[in-house]
Amino acid sequence: MGNVVISGTGVFTPDEVITNAELVQAFNAFAELQNAANDAIDAGECEPVPQSSEEFIIKASGIEQRYVLNKSGVLDPERMYPVLRERSEDEISVMAEIAVKAATLAMAAAGKSAGEIDAVICAASNHERAYPAIAIEVQKELGIGGFAFDMNVACSSATFGIQAAADMIRAGSARAILIVNPEICSGHLEWRDRDCHFIFGDVCTAVVLERTETASSDTRYEIISTRCLTEFSNNIRNNAGFLRRTRDGHMEDRRDMLFHQEGRKVFKQVVPLVAEMIVTHLADEGIAPDEISRMWLHQANKAMNDFIGQKVLGRAPNPGQQPNILQDYANTSSAGSIIAFSKFSDDLPAGALGVICSFGAGYSVGSVIVRRVE
Ligand SMILES: CC(C)(COP(=O)(O)OP(=O)(O)OC[C@H]1O[C@@H](n2cnc3c(N)ncnc32)[C@H](O)[C@@H]1OP(=O)(O)O)[C@@H](O)C(=O)NCCC(=O)NCCS
Repeated sequence: MGNVVISGTGVFTPDEVITNAELVQAFNAFAELQNAANDAIDAGECEPVPQSSEEFIIKASGIEQRYVLNKSGVLDPERMYPVLRERSEDEISVMAEIAVKAATLAMAAAGKSAGEIDAVICAASNHERAYPAIAIEVQKELGIGGFAFDMNVACSSATFGIQAAADMIRAGSARAILIVNPEICSGHLEWRDRDCHFIFGDVCTAVVLERTETASSDTRYEIISTRCLTEFSNNIRNNAGFLRRTRDGHMEDRRDMLFHQEGRKVFKQVVPLVAEMIVTHLADEGIAPDEISRMWLHQANKAMNDFIGQKVLGRAPNPGQQPNILQDYANTSSAGSIIAFSKFSDDLPAGALGVICSFGAGYSVGSVIVRRVE
C-alpha cells in the first residue's frame, strides 16, 4: 500500500448563487400561492403549507447559500425547479460539460496530459441518462485513452471512486486515473418541501490519482489506506428509476421520485457510524487521532461535522483542523469532502496526515487516509 498519490484536484463552481434570504422568499411566495388556491384549508380539511425561515435553516444546518446551474427556475414560485436547456445528442451533455471543466483544472494541477491518463471514473449520486456512460463522454472530450465508467454510491461516490482508482493503479490496470464528481443536486431536490429545500447545491469536483513515481505536482497526497462501508437504510431515498413507466401512477409528479429523507434519524444513526469507522480505520493503520492534522468531512450539516470531529479527536477540533465549506456550497453530495480537500490542502507541511471522509445514502461511508508528500 501507499504507492498511489492524489496529485491534482479541481472544482467547477456554477456562476449563480441563491442565498437563504432569496430561497425563503421564493418558498414562502410558493406556499402563499398554494394556500390561496386550496379551498380545503378554509374548510378545515387540510393544513396550509407552512412558511420556511432563514433562522431555521442556518441553525439546523449551517448553510448560508448554495450555487446552482439555474437560479431563475428554482426561485420562480410557479415552477420551483431549475430550467436546463434540452441538448441534442450531438451536443455535450450538461454533466459531461461541468465534469470537463473540473477535470481540466485537476489535470493542470497534477501536470498531467490526456495521454498520461488511462481511465476516467464518473462517480456521482445521479447520472443524467442510463447510457452511454457520462465518463465515456468525458473521456472522449478530453482525448483520454483506455477505459471509463460511471458509478453511484450517492454521497460517498467520490471516496468509493478513490478506493476503486487507487486499487486499480496498484494492480496495474491504469497508470493514472481521473475521477469526476458532477453533482447537479438541484435536479433531484424537491424545492417545494420546506423540510429539505435548503439542503443542496450544484458543483463538480475532479481528482487525478497516479503512481508515486510519476507524480511531480506541488500538492501531492499519498494514499495511505482506504476503507469503504455500506449498511442498508431507507432513511435517504429516491425512487425514480427506469422501471417507473411499468408501474401505474409512477409517471405522476410524485414526491418519492425525488430525494426524501428522515433527516433526524440520519443524523442520529450516521454520526456514530462515521466516527467509529474513522477511529477504527486510523487504529488499524497504527495512527493515533492526535496525529491527524486535518479532516475533510462530507458537507451535509455543520453540527454533524462538529459531533464527528469531537468523537474522533476526543476534543473539539482546533481552528482549521476540520474546514467546512457547506456554508457557501450547501450539501453537494459526493463532491463536498473533495471541495474541502481541494480548497484546504495546500498549506499542510510534508508528512502531515489527514482523512477525507464521506457519508450518506446507502448508508455509505468512505474513509481515505492521506499523507502530504514533499
Ligand atoms: C435535515 C436537517 C437539517 C433538519 O434539521 P432538524 O433539526 O432535524 O429539524 P427537523 O426536521 O426535526 O424539524 C424541526 C422543526 O422545524 C420545522 N422545519 C423544517 N423545515 C423548516 C424550515 N425550512 N423552516 C422552518 N421550520 C422548518 C419542522 O417542521 C419541525 O417542526 P415541528 O417541531 O413543529 O415538527 C437535519 O436533520 C440534518 O441535517 N440531518 C442529516 C441529514 C443528512 O446528512 N442527510 C444526508 C443527505 S445526502
